[in-house]
Amino acid sequence: MNILITGAAGFIGSNFVRLALSKGDSVIAYDKLEYAGNPTDFGSFSRNLFDVQLHSKFSFVKADVCDKLSLSRAVYGIDAVVHFAAESHVDRSLENPDLFFKINVGGTKNLFDCIKELSPDVRVLHVSTDEVYGSVLEGCASEQSLFNPTSPYAKSKAEADKLALSEGKNVVVTRSSNNFGPFQFPEKFIPLAAINLLLGEKIPVYGTGMNMRDWVFVDDNCDALYFVLKNGKAGQAYNVGGGNEKTNIAIAKKLVELCGKDDSYINFVADRPNHDFRYALSSEKLFSLGWQPKYTFEDALKKTVEWYKTNKDWWEPLRSKRYTSINMPKVMHS
Ligand SMILES: NC(=O)c1ccc[n+]([C@@H]2O[C@H](COP(=O)([O-])OP(=O)(O)OC[C@H]3O[C@@H](n4cnc5c(N)ncnc54)[C@H](O)[C@@H]3O)[C@@H](O)[C@H]2O)c1
Repeated sequence: MNILITGAAGFIGSNFVRLALSKGDSVIAYDKLEYAGNPTDFGSFSRNLFDVQLHSKFSFVKADVCDKLSLSRAVYGIDAVVHFAAESHVDRSLENPDLFFKINVGGTKNLFDCIKELSPDVRVLHVSTDEVYGSVLEGCASEQSLFNPTSPYAKSKAEADKLALSEGKNVVVTRSSNNFGPFQFPEKFIPLAAINLLLGEKIPVYGTGMNMRDWVFVDDNCDALYFVLKNGKAGQAYNVGGGNEKTNIAIAKKLVELCGKDDSYINFVADRPNHDFRYALSSEKLFSLGWQPKYTFEDALKKTVEWYKTNKDWWEPLRSKRYTSINMPKVMHS
């Protein structure tokens, strides 16, 4: 399969690129290389994709999903599109909501306009999020649940999700829970906390730490996305949960333990405004199609911390150049 992957340099996108290449697919990685695409110093390539840059089935296009000409060229002649490109951080969306609507909604609209014009039958996987359902105080959100997004990030993703299902002819949508794993930009909770602890610094936890999220290991998420791309029914959405519902404080304590520290390294900070209390997903629809996660939460978290321990070269430049300079350590997860 020839796959166009937008947002391919980001956390999940770069992991998905590796998976698709390992399956024998040809990949066109399309990314504007915003901060989360981890650009090299001259901004021409992504440090998240160094290991695949010479792969014979890999090519890279540095461009914006809102750029019609570049996207039309990239869409032409491909078999499938996996659309990750987005602004993805909730805290940043509170500061600059317009940017999130421009990229997440405008970019998705542009993608479907190009597809309609040039490749109307192409298979599209639109990557959405569980945050479209908003806070779920009891039970679990199913694909039929009403959308109730609260942050500008979640609102923009909810618009894009609806747009994909209404505009795409051969489209499938995934709504995943919180991902974690290698190559995650250290403004998000798990990498931020792991790196702080490895450096002997405290980790910030919003409010009382009782907010709950379901967590899915990025390898499992990519595997599920690939499975839905191949097997999902056109016009349908699929929740992708890891079945790992945890409070933030429980994760913080687990990370402290894995990094050989104690609870004095946990620092409670003022809560995020309108912080959704709980996200919870039913993934029954995906399970009944034949997919299951492979990793336990404990093994995946251990593997993740190991990766950050052994890949200091990857995160050190980010720490000094980017997220400390914009004072990001005070923030937590998506
Ligand atoms: N991380 C999670 O826990 C999670 C959970 C569910 C869904 N998602 C969704 O998965 C997708 C990827 O998430 P992620 O965590 O890998 O995000 P990320 O922020 O790590 O990566 C986003 C990528 O999109 C690129 N990008 C941004 N604006 C662009 C533009 N205008 N044109 C082209 N490329 C652009 C960035 O350069 C970056 O490489 C997003 O759509 C997000 O909403 C993420």
